[in-house]
Amino acid sequence: MTPYLPSPLVAADPDALNGRVIAITGASDGIGKAVALAAAAHGAEVILLGRSVKKLEAVHAQVRERHGERSLMAVLDLEKAVARDYDQLADAVMSRYGRLEGLVHCAGLLGALSPVDHADVPTWCKVLHVNLTAPFVLTQVLLPALRAASDASVIFTTSSVGLQGRAYWGAYAASKAAIGNFAQTLAHELEGSTAVRVNTLNPGATRTRMRRQAFPSENAELLPEPAQVVAPYIALLAGTARDLTGLTLACQPSPTVSGAASAASGPASSAASSSVVN
Ligand SMILES: NC(=O)c1ccc[n+]([C@@H]2O[C@H](COP(=O)([O-])OP(=O)(O)OC[C@H]3O[C@@H](n4cnc5c(N)ncnc54)[C@H](OP(=O)(O)O)[C@@H]3O)[C@@H](O)[C@H]2O)c1
Repeated sequence: MTPYLPSPLVAADPDALNGRVIAITGASDGIGKAVALAAAAHGAEVILLGRSVKKLEAVHAQVRERHGERSLMAVLDLEKAVARDYDQLADAVMSRYGRLEGLVHCAGLLGALSPVDHADVPTWCKVLHVNLTAPFVLTQVLLPALRAASDASVIFTTSSVGLQGRAYWGAYAASKAAIGNFAQTLAHELEGSTAVRVNTLNPGATRTRMRRQAFPSENAELLPEPAQVVAPYIALLAGTARDLTGLTLACQPSPTVSGAASAASGPASSAASSSVVN
């Protein structure tokens, strides 16, 4: 079974991220925005990555209002970014901070849920690009900054459909399965020789725009808000969960919701055969 975080891991000290620089994709909305706000609340300097300047500015303003000058915005459209955009970001991180203690991949694209017969090829490519290729490239360019930190955490946000494929979830499920596999590869490469920890985290069913898109008729009131699922992200970033490199973690047992929602978001099983599982 995917391990659930025991409570000591989720109770992070209020200053747990003091002095840490943490970059978050998808920081404009949903779970990524909640992770960014929570990381800043725990003392981190956050780099808000997103494609919408307006939405990033709103999150930046929220951080400033609550915690002072603790965030920076970086516009990066993961669908359109080219090598130069990634390199500029990595250079900016290195020249400003000289290191990076956290990289949280929250940006994601659902695409369209449809039977394989009708799956649109350009949409498939877009979903695979945003959910798999872009996080790989971003991680690759930021590895020197992560290696320069004395302790660093990389978190890929995954999903139960990435552990067990389901009808109609084609590109999204395939992208999440692949990013989980990539995270294992990266964990194996970095474990032992660097101070970079790598994990995947499945937030479980959460009340966001993506969730609404996937399950428009479910009662969203039954789902946790993004702010309620971020504690494991903070624990991993803080190093409270230092020994968990390579594990897939699930934030929450799925609440009881009707129909497909329950099936698609329930606790996923995984093969836990060694210290590196997914
Ligand atoms: N919600 C759930 O129940 C659930 C369950 C399991 C896993 N997840 C995963 O959790 C992560 C966050 O999803 P969410 O539920 O918070 O969804 P969300 O509210 O729709 O947020 C998605 C985020 O991804 C960003 N994004 C999408 N395309 C992008 C692009 N081309 N370039 C840059 N950013 C882009 C969005 O930016 P804009 O604001 O500009 O659109 C937004 O910040 C995803 O990886 C998702 O797969 C969610």
